[in-house]
Amino acid sequence: MISIQQTRIEATLAQLFRDSKYDILKMMKVAAKSFVRPMQPSDFKEAYLSISSEQGKDLKQLIQDKNLKNVVEFGTSFGISTLYLASGVIETDGHIITTELIESKALKAIENFQKAGVADRIEVRVGDAVETLQGHREPIDLLLLDGWKDLYLTIFQLLESNFHSNTIVYVDNADMNETRVFLNTLAKDSRYQFQSKHQGKVVLITSQHWLRA
Ligand SMILES: C[S@@+](CC[C@H](N)C(=O)[O-])C[C@H]1O[C@@H](n2cnc3c(N)ncnc32)[C@H](O)[C@@H]1O
Repeated sequence: MISIQQTRIEATLAQLFRDSKYDILKMMKVAAKSFVRPMQPSDFKEAYLSISSEQGKDLKQLIQDKNLKNVVEFGTSFGISTLYLASGVIETDGHIITTELIESKALKAIENFQKAGVADRIEVRVGDAVETLQGHREPIDLLLLDGWKDLYLTIFQLLESNFHSNTIVYVDNADMNETRVFLNTLAKDSRYQFQSKHQGKVVLITSQHWLRA
């Protein structure tokens, strides 16, 4: 049963990666527009901006190795990263909450989760993560930060009371300026540990001081 699900996830991912090849053209259009006005989140409504397949496979392995079950994701886009998370949690019998600001992207992601046969493991919350994750009161084993970078600290602080000593916070685009500001802020506190991966594109944050069981 699980192997059939894995095959459907792989097939859906292959199709999404084929489509995501056009991101370069879409980004060029966004860059051109930015000469006349500041960029807006809606400029990226057609773009995947996804993690790489190497990162995805690594995420799946991490979930399996650490037996992670309760996953929260900031930044669904069309669901590529979420499908990798799903390929991990079907092995650990876990589930995912993911949140996306742009409704059309969230709806397409839900279609992709249905196509891959994993929609029952994924709750998609449409809207600003600062609101959709407000009041979250369940333990989090893995938090994937992959929305707009200026909100990483806000989302981290919003959810930190749900972390425990085995929680992993997976920070994508760790090499971007705004993410560095976030990481440097946390680095002032010796309670956090940092592990860099994927040539510095990713940082994992852990802390033995997160005590929630
Ligand atoms: C880098 S993309 C996510 C890529 C996705 N994780 C993947 O690998 O397939 C960032 C996404 O975060 C969404 N986003 C940005 N700000 C957000 C917010 N405040 N709340 C929810 N989603 C947000 C954007 O609309 C965009 O689709």
